[in-house]
Amino acid sequence: MTAEETLAQIAKEVSSCQKCALYHSRKHAVPGEGPASSEIMFIGEGPGFHENEQGRPFVGAAGQFLNELLAQAGMKREDVWIGNVVKCRPPGNRDPLPEELAACDTYLERQIAAINPKIIITLGRYSMGKFMPGAKISAVHGQMRRVGNRFVIAMFHPAAALHQASLKPAILHDFAQLPKLLEQARAALKRLAPVQAEEPQQLSLF
Ligand code: URA
Ligand code: SF4
Repeated sequence: MTAEETLAQIAKEVSSCQKCALYHSRKHAVPGEGPASSEIMFIGEGPGFHENEQGRPFVGAAGQFLNELLAQAGMKREDVWIGNVVKCRPPGNRDPLPEELAACDTYLERQIAAINPKIIITLGRYSMGKFMPGAKISAVHGQMRRVGNRFVIAMFHPAAALHQASLKPAILHDFAQLPKLLEQARAALKRLAPVQAEEPQQLSLF
């Protein structure tokens, strides 16, 4: 199977998945979208109202802001992959439960394996927790860390920055650094010996 076919297969499984209770209340599951060749994957928390209606990630107010942040960084939304740690909307936008995160994780793991991105950008604490357990967003946001054979950058969630004006300069600054960080990641991945472990190394290279 090509990476595109693998992503399509995962999306098909997600659309009819019943592995956790969130399937009861969803209208549309949101597998995520973007090219299989993406060098960057953005990973948010879970679908909200509009995402559940449309079956697409980040199409509401937070998505509008994400589009602006990408454009300001000189990137096109169509060139990156965008998805979430849980694929179905938690009712009333409540936080996802540990069992829901655990049940849904295999889809994200398979998506990451198929795309093999150079950089994963976590948006919000649930996706940060997957790659940098115990990290504090206020301390680590915008920093690129090696995790296995790729890099992870934690960023504030665009919805949080929309609601808390004080976070806006930080998220704008972190996105503005992205082209430079992508260059660094490309160069580092050429130079670094591959490692076997996918566990976070908590190793800051830059
Ligand atoms: N917030 C998220 O975390 N994900 C979406 O897809 C939309 C809003
Ligand atoms: Fe399946 Fe994930 Fe949806 Fe739960 S949230 S039903 S595990 S796709």
